[in-house]
Amino acid sequence: MHPLVIFGITGRMGQSLLRALPGAPGLTLNAAVASATSPWLGKDAAQSGMAATGVLIGADVDAALRGAAVAVDFSLPQSVAAHATACAAAQVPLLVGATGLDRATQETLRAAAGRIPVLTAANTSVGVNVMERLVAIAARSLGGAYDVDIVEAHHRMKRDAPSGTAIVLGEAVAGARGETLADLAVFDRHGDAGPRRDQSIGFSSVRAGDIVGEHSVIFAADGERLEITHRAGDRMIFARGALRAAEWLVARPPGLYGMKDVLGL
Ligand SMILES: NC(=O)c1ccc[n+]([C@@H]2O[C@H](COP(=O)([O-])OP(=O)(O)OC[C@H]3O[C@@H](n4cnc5c(N)ncnc54)[C@H](OP(=O)(O)O)[C@@H]3O)[C@@H](O)[C@H]2O)c1
Repeated sequence: MHPLVIFGITGRMGQSLLRALPGAPGLTLNAAVASATSPWLGKDAAQSGMAATGVLIGADVDAALRGAAVAVDFSLPQSVAAHATACAAAQVPLLVGATGLDRATQETLRAAAGRIPVLTAANTSVGVNVMERLVAIAARSLGGAYDVDIVEAHHRMKRDAPSGTAIVLGEAVAGARGETLADLAVFDRHGDAGPRRDQSIGFSSVRAGDIVGEHSVIFAADGERLEITHRAGDRMIFARGALRAAEWLVARPPGLYGMKDVLGL
């Protein structure tokens, strides 16, 4: 059994990971981490509706990593760099599920990957990772004559927009065209936005209710429209995928990995 650390234990994903843990027989909870100001410090990792784990929530990252075999980070993007630095120092492999990572954090993860295996995944569901492949195939086959827009929808509490998954899908389209997303992305259309720029990839974000996560990539040309859509109905799909990836990560050499490596896509 590999001892697991969960960063962001008190969040929606942290609790889903705990719920999914019995389905990952190779992993056992080693430590549960929240922020230093969390009202849940000192309480059992499992909140309402679950049996107590016997592991208390803490904020001491170094102590949490002692004796750990792997860590998963579903906290908020601003705490990911510190977690990665601590994991590298403690030689504990790290899966980062938190999204909205800035450039500096991405650099820190790249540096950490020189010392430990690091897997970053804006979406740990198997379905979305297969979708990414389908989108790349469609973009390559349809070519630049098709307009591409990406629409995503999430619950009212989500902070970053567009979602990390929408960005990854946009990168898949841009990559299939031999371009980079930064050159093609259009994040806002408002007022007199003018006609569509050739080759541009538009993003739209819905934030409403308790939507777990929906992504559609629309390929449209005159007289034809192809849409590839994934709808997540339950956070457990992310949690199960993340735990599967965490188990996989334990035996890897240092380096930067993605869900594609885990799933053999
Ligand atoms: N990869 C995927 O498939 C996937 C799927 C869903 C969501 N996500 C991403 O995962 C992240 C979490 O989502 P969520 O919906 O679970 O968010 P959430 O409910 O707001 O939970 C955030 C968690 O982070 C903790 N936290 C905040 N600052 C921290 C710090 N400095 N150190 C340790 N923990 C800290 C919070 O704890 P306290 O407030 O109690 O301190 C809380 O437990 C987001 O970035 C989201 O976009 C990824």
